[in-house]
Amino acid sequence: MKDAAPTQSGQTIYLKDYTAPGWLVEEVHLTFRLAPEATRVLSRIRFTPNPDADQGQFFLHGEQLKLISASIDGTPVAPDISEEGLTCAVPDGAFTWEAEVEIAPAKNFALEGLYMSSGMYCTQCEAEGFRKITYYPDRPDVMSVFTVRIEGDTPVKLSNGNPVASGEGWAEWHDPWPKPAYLFALVAGDLINHPDRFTTMSGKDVELNIWVRPGDEGKCAFGMEALKKSMKWDEEVYGREYDLDIFNIVAVDDFNMGAMENKGLNIFNSSCVLASPETSTDANFERIEAIIAHEYFHNWTGNRITCRDWFQLCLKEGLTVYRDSQFTSDMRSAPVKRISDVIDLRARQFREDNGPLAHPVRPESFQEINNFYTATVYEKGAEVIGMLKRLVGDEAYSKALDLYFERHDGQACTIEDWLAVFQESTGRDLSQFKRWYSQAGTPRLHVSETWEDGTFTLHFRQETPPTPGQPDKAPQVLPIAVGLIGPNGDEVQETTLLEMTEAEQSFSFSGLGARPVPSILREFSAPVILHRDTDNAERAFLLAHDTDPYNRWEAGRTLAKQALLRMIADGAEADAGYLGALATLLADETLDPAFRALAMALPSEDDLAQTLHESGHVPDPQRIWEKRQEMRSAMAEAMPDLLANLYAAHQVPGEYQPDAGPAAARSLANSALALLSRRDGGDRARAQFAEADNMTQQLAALSCLLSIEDGQTELKAFYDQWHDDRLVMDKWFSLQVAYARPDQMAATTERLANHLDFDMKNPNRFRATFGALTMSPAGFHHASGAGYKLLADWLIKLDPLNPQTTARVCSAFQSWTRYDADRQAMMREALERMAAQPKLSPDTREMVTRILN
Ligand code: PHE
Ligand code: ZN
Repeated sequence: MKDAAPTQSGQTIYLKDYTAPGWLVEEVHLTFRLAPEATRVLSRIRFTPNPDADQGQFFLHGEQLKLISASIDGTPVAPDISEEGLTCAVPDGAFTWEAEVEIAPAKNFALEGLYMSSGMYCTQCEAEGFRKITYYPDRPDVMSVFTVRIEGDTPVKLSNGNPVASGEGWAEWHDPWPKPAYLFALVAGDLINHPDRFTTMSGKDVELNIWVRPGDEGKCAFGMEALKKSMKWDEEVYGREYDLDIFNIVAVDDFNMGAMENKGLNIFNSSCVLASPETSTDANFERIEAIIAHEYFHNWTGNRITCRDWFQLCLKEGLTVYRDSQFTSDMRSAPVKRISDVIDLRARQFREDNGPLAHPVRPESFQEINNFYTATVYEKGAEVIGMLKRLVGDEAYSKALDLYFERHDGQACTIEDWLAVFQESTGRDLSQFKRWYSQAGTPRLHVSETWEDGTFTLHFRQETPPTPGQPDKAPQVLPIAVGLIGPNGDEVQETTLLEMTEAEQSFSFSGLGARPVPSILREFSAPVILHRDTDNAERAFLLAHDTDPYNRWEAGRTLAKQALLRMIADGAEADAGYLGALATLLADETLDPAFRALAMALPSEDDLAQTLHESGHVPDPQRIWEKRQEMRSAMAEAMPDLLANLYAAHQVPGEYQPDAGPAAARSLANSALALLSRRDGGDRARAQFAEADNMTQQLAALSCLLSIEDGQTELKAFYDQWHDDRLVMDKWFSLQVAYARPDQMAATTERLANHLDFDMKNPNRFRATFGALTMSPAGFHHASGAGYKLLADWLIKLDPLNPQTTARVCSAFQSWTRYDADRQAMMREALERMAAQPKLSPDTREMVTRILN
């Protein structure tokens, strides 16, 4: 992070080495003369010495730039240029730097910096992409006011802030809010807008636009509604108002991530904003609403208050994910959102936390920051905020946030700043809580119980296993929400919060008439793995009586998991007790259909593999797959009439609406359909496919058919209907992989990767195809090793073009040490073959190295 010591790629940088920037930027003027192969970027930057830092040597980041000219205060200079940037002799006081560079957006397939997507110019600067646009102190603690002039023949030209002037072939934008370079954005192309307006709480009128390629204008309405709801929600819940005259969103087809919060000009992966009933599923709609909210919320948590350095990434991401989850809970069903988040956390973050890629929510070192946009930083980062809020209470949380915004508006901050605000406004000592930011790994929470003379005692013990670089762990603060249920099913102790701070600690409840059943870790109040010896009778009791929907679901999930583990371990039959309890729950009309659909879903193959590994077994992916299939057949056998009734009773008549209510009904009906299809030869699914007028119904039916037969007729019909729609075609690619039989999966993936419609340069298509492979354990880990080999082949091909996406997909190998010696050897070989590529990108090299060590 030192100005004077630019990082070499492949070099590790450390949080502890942070030093403040030597120079600050007062203002910056950029002029873009756009041309696909040779765009000129002119910069005029006013530098002032930072009074709070040593100046050291003057250094500007810059990569893959052709310097045309440079001057200081009007006098030409000849800087020393390296692959990382430039150094130059500079005057003592303030000065004006001017430079002209040339870049080639049409040749930029890394999709970082200025690049082209479907003929449009666009940028992606987070984290360190601005240095591929011009020479600049590309670090988030250098904030400045940007004025941007765009010259070119595209009809639409956008940048951050407010439009100030435009004419034939040019447009000028000015952003009055100081910002770091990573929030810079520019878009130019042949775009159409979906316009709207919003009046803020203080009565300011804001122009809103969603900009898309011609042909996509019919897919903007839902995103626009989501944006307006987000703006309103942030005013009502956090008191935060929008701060420019205009807010633009642009949909881009080629994008490495989901979306980006550039000030006043959010850029979205088209898959995360474009929506229509015909082309998007209910899940797509919900995700789009959440991502629009997330990026909008960054305006305050990320943009107005940003990060001092990239080690603090969770400061903006953990908080913003937490905020968007609150939003979704308010817009839709809070329990269903919580359960879905926990499923996701366990699938992605626990896997990361319990393998070679484990790192703290605030990492202390990295080579390539792009590799740290992880489930740990985002999702565990959000869990940490949820715990903090639970510990201090809702009111204190609001007060602390008000203070945070008031004190740090316009600043680049650290986790210390964030925690100080809570310490001061609540008087609470948060030094132990801070371990959540520095200690990697998932705490194990063991619990046992005693009952004596009307007093019920819970004995807890916590431990966190070692993670890379952290052999010893200290106890963390665990907020444990607990309720007690009496033998008749009534709650005798409503939810209360136990605050565990020691390695071992007991909590008692006295004055009870009979031994209660505890409901522990309600709402999943801490991201831990709970170990508790209990029996199925008690789980079934909680499934029937728990008042906490999360724990009710968890009881059902545990029953299912135990049943599956017994089937895997000794070939037991599907457990009749579980099937009976599930049937009772499914038939309960008082329960939200979305909740019932979640209860019907079995623990994933990967979840089962994780659990087996955790308990000292070597998971066999093929056997896990077979036993899950067997369980699903048993479910279909055990309750045919109930399933048929559920299917019939939850058909949604009339025009498609993406709202939570109808989406919940569809999700329950389609979960039933998947099981029914195992017995009806696919008749219902075929009929649904033929009649469907929306993508949710069409895709669900197609999935059912693919899971029981080859579905060639429907796949072809689907292709013919949708081959011009890229986003729908991504579904066509991923579905075929996901539903291929394990022994066919690698071959299916390979065939699709050679399909005319496959384009590895498009990250969505690459992920649709190869992501589906890596997320299907039985196919990816097939004993032949074909899955590993194919993935490595294609990662090696993609790496020279797009290192960021290569490195992300490469994380599929992270759980390699869980498996048997043969599979380990084959995965190691795949990883070593990648490592042996002499020109492997630093991004992918860092991932491969961390996974192997
Ligand atoms: N900051 C973006 C978000 O979470 C994610 C992102 C990171 C996008 C890096 C692009 C590149 O909202
Ligand atoms: Zn974010």
